[in-house]
Amino acid sequence: MFLSTQLLAAAVVGISTASAALLPERDVSSFVYGRQEVTNSSGSWPYGPFSTQGRDIVNTKGEAVTFAGVNWPGSGETMVPEGLEWASIEDILSQVESVGFNFIRFTYAIEMVDQIYERNGSDVGLEIAMINGLGYENGTKVTNEIIAKNPTFTKDTTRFEIWDHIAQVALSKNIYIHPDVHVGKAQWCCNNTDGNAWFDDYNFPVANWKRGLQYVATWASRHNNVVSMSLRNELRRAINETAPTSSLGYNWVTLVGNYTAATDAIHTANPDLLVTWSGMQYDQDLSALIQGKNLNTAPCYKCDAIRDGLRRDPIIFDLASHPWANKVVYELHLYSMSEDLDTGSCPIVFAELYNAGFNAIGMAPPPACNVTKNCVSAVRNTPVIISEFGAAQDVSLFNDTLMNCLKDFTQQNNVSWAMWSLAGSYRIRSGGQGVGDTWALGNYNWTGWNYPEGVEKWWKPWVTSMFD
Ligand SMILES: *[C@@H]1O[C@H](CO)[C@@H](O)[C@H](O)[C@H]1NC(C)=O
Ligand SMILES: *[C@@H]1O[C@H](CO)[C@@H](O)[C@H](O)[C@H]1NC(C)=O
Ligand SMILES: *[C@@H]1O[C@H](CO)[C@@H](O)[C@H](O)[C@H]1NC(C)=O
Ligand SMILES: *[C@@H]1O[C@H](CO)[C@@H](O)[C@H](O)[C@H]1NC(C)=O
Ligand SMILES: *[C@@H]1O[C@H](CO)[C@@H](O)[C@H](O)[C@H]1NC(C)=O
Ligand SMILES: *[C@@H]1O[C@H](CO)[C@@H](O)[C@H](O)[C@H]1NC(C)=O
Ligand SMILES: *[C@@H]1O[C@H](CO)[C@@H](O)[C@H](O)[C@H]1NC(C)=O
Ligand SMILES: *[C@@H]1O[C@H](CO)[C@@H](O)[C@H](O)[C@H]1NC(C)=O
Ligand SMILES: *[C@@H]1O[C@H](CO)[C@@H](O)[C@H](O)[C@H]1NC(C)=O
Ligand SMILES: *[C@@H]1O[C@H](CO)[C@@H](O)[C@H](O)[C@H]1NC(C)=O
Repeated sequence: MFLSTQLLAAAVVGISTASAALLPERDVSSFVYGRQEVTNSSGSWPYGPFSTQGRDIVNTKGEAVTFAGVNWPGSGETMVPEGLEWASIEDILSQVESVGFNFIRFTYAIEMVDQIYERNGSDVGLEIAMINGLGYENGTKVTNEIIAKNPTFTKDTTRFEIWDHIAQVALSKNIYIHPDVHVGKAQWCCNNTDGNAWFDDYNFPVANWKRGLQYVATWASRHNNVVSMSLRNELRRAINETAPTSSLGYNWVTLVGNYTAATDAIHTANPDLLVTWSGMQYDQDLSALIQGKNLNTAPCYKCDAIRDGLRRDPIIFDLASHPWANKVVYELHLYSMSEDLDTGSCPIVFAELYNAGFNAIGMAPPPACNVTKNCVSAVRNTPVIISEFGAAQDVSLFNDTLMNCLKDFTQQNNVSWAMWSLAGSYRIRSGGQGVGDTWALGNYNWTGWNYPEGVEKWWKPWVTSMFD
């Protein structure tokens, strides 16, 4: 039977994450990629699989590996990485490579995997994905533009086939691809009311999330340069203006419970991968885990209190007790829009970063700890990376306080990082189509940089310094 593209598109438009909350009673393993040992990766770059050794990420040769890179957004409504209508995968990755970056945090939505399950295992083709995200007119237009720039694609090339192409080209350039769950339902991220904020928020059904993680973990086994993946971007308190959300338990106990279960799920699907754990309040805080505090009573910003927490048996997170003890990497973010942290001076930022989790890299407490008075050492050394931060890409970059603090911090402490972001424009973002972003490295039409002088005189020297 043949269906017109429009009919097919209409059928897919009906799919929602809410309906996907009811998982089908089927053998999930039948939909996931078979594990394939494509090549023997231990004998060539990237010398994977990677593991952690104290504060370092190490390859199979025992060498410490540093990441310096960029986020490539792909979790918008079309669920296809941004920019492909403007430039080929080869050209985009050549741009990334030209800065010296070796790492891409590659964002996606769990909805992408939900749709594959709803379609009995088949992924969505490019044209349908575009029409679903952009409507018929722009969807077909953008599909043709993507194919013109990437002639090996057809309108039926699926989203995970596009991922395969990107991972393969990245491998040829010695660039790591780090899949990152940005949202449950594909859309611009993040705020407290978008339904993607916290476990079991209305766009964040926990079972779908874990299923999606397993699918991507299995996909990763086909690509030697996918050595790591994240659990979830920027967890935060869920807010519903008309009803309390305290039943979702926004606190350390819920965080560690769900992260442990999800890391088990990934490790079962693909035991080679590193798994990055992000923190509370938009990924600003991992202090309770890293300092070995009682999770029932440890403080955190805007958390739901566990009122009888003092009377309960203490719950202490012990990474060493898990089979994936040498696979967890912590990730933190910091932006000048932070609700609660002071980003106005480097000494304070350094002390805050120490408390938030960078104590786990074994660094000495920064001098301003005598002001913040919360610098406690870590119970275990573990790698910590800064996987998002950013600011306007114009002349103000050179004098931006927080950006310069983070640059100094990563250089002084050999901390891996990824800036936000590559995407000079978005197909669709917060309801608008063709939306530009002045904080992006890339320009609107993905032909070059937003601020070439910043790339030459600020980003490139920073990247180079990380590998000296
Ligand atoms: C993979 O390559 C490494 C290094 O060349 C070698 O030591 C190892 O035995 C190989 N493993 C397999 C499964 O072929
Ligand atoms: C930082 O890590 C890299 C390995 O990626 C290493 O070559 C370099 O020596 C380290 N630098 C410092 C200051 O520890
Ligand atoms: C998936 O398979 C089920 C059971 O065979 C069938 O009822 C359903 O129509 C199929 N859905 C799609 C989208 O193919
Ligand atoms: C939060 O995000 C949702 C979904 O993107 C959007 O509809 C809403 O307007 C946003 N709210 C605020 C306050 O920005
Ligand atoms: C907010 O809570 C109310 C009452 O429980 C519910 O009807 C509504 O669907 C919720 N809104 C969202 C966006 O979850
Ligand atoms: C995950 O979070 C949900 C939502 O708060 C909670 O009900 C559930 O108990 C958590 N799961 C674990 C294993 O802690
Ligand atoms: C903190 O220590 C610095 C020196 O490292 C000193 O200049 C400053 O006065 C101290 N501040 C407080 C509040 O003790
Ligand atoms: C910006 O920083 C540079 C050094 O990076 C300095 O030479 C210049 O004077 C600063 N400009 C302003 C306006 O502060
Ligand atoms: C189609 O995309 C353009 C930007 O490329 C945008 O201006 C226009 O509003 C979009 N059309 C619709 C119907 O959204
Ligand atoms: C891309 O944008 C730049 C300026 O941002 C402009 O000079 C150039 O002509 C544009 N190229 C295309 C193909 O639109």
